[in-house]
Amino acid sequence: MASAAAKRHLPEERPVTWVALVGFMGTGKSRIGWELSRRLALSFVDTDRVVERVTCLKIPEILELYGEPVLRDFETEVVRRCLRLDQVVVSTGGGTVVREENRRLLKSRGPVVLLEASPETIYKRTRRHKRPLLEVGDPTERIRTLLAERGPAYRDAASFPVSGDDREAEDVVEDIVQGLVAWARANPELAARRGERGSLADLVGTIVPGRRG
Ligand code: S3P
Repeated sequence: MASAAAKRHLPEERPVTWVALVGFMGTGKSRIGWELSRRLALSFVDTDRVVERVTCLKIPEILELYGEPVLRDFETEVVRRCLRLDQVVVSTGGGTVVREENRRLLKSRGPVVLLEASPETIYKRTRRHKRPLLEVGDPTERIRTLLAERGPAYRDAASFPVSGDDREAEDVVEDIVQGLVAWARANPELAARRGERGSLADLVGTIVPGRRG
């Protein structure tokens, strides 16, 4: 009889082979996404890192040099590329689903998990990292404002929400897995859908702004 830990990793318990994480900055998308990918034995892609790789620029540099709309264009192209993949957990940037097209694209491919956290937790987690959109006099107030503005978009993108507030990563991941099991039961066709191309190398071709691939 397999132990509980070994049993958790049996492939037949993997409810989906593609899943996206969305949510505000500092809700834990990258950390939880990585842990979830280990739990489900999938690859992990962080769209911020792919954008940085294909543009050879850091996200703050993109925002400074070209502004937010251009970052959103890069994100849309990277999201499109991520739809072709299979066997992957895709962690998105905090503003990716502000664009309706990105929400539609992600939802067309599989489950989209919304990670949530309080403004205080978000502030604690983001204050030591460079987040140009939060570089203002009162970052917590800015977080509240942006959360309120983006709330409808996050909710529209989400297949289901999970709280990442003050909890062990393992517990958050278990909640997500339970949510994915329920989602896969309710959406068997989408859950069974496989990518056309499975290589992470497909993600990193050069992006030309304005041209859709
Ligand atoms: C942003 C979130 C960041 C990054 C950029 C803009 C946003 O991603 O894409 O700074 O608009 O919320 P993380 O959520 O990974 O920090």
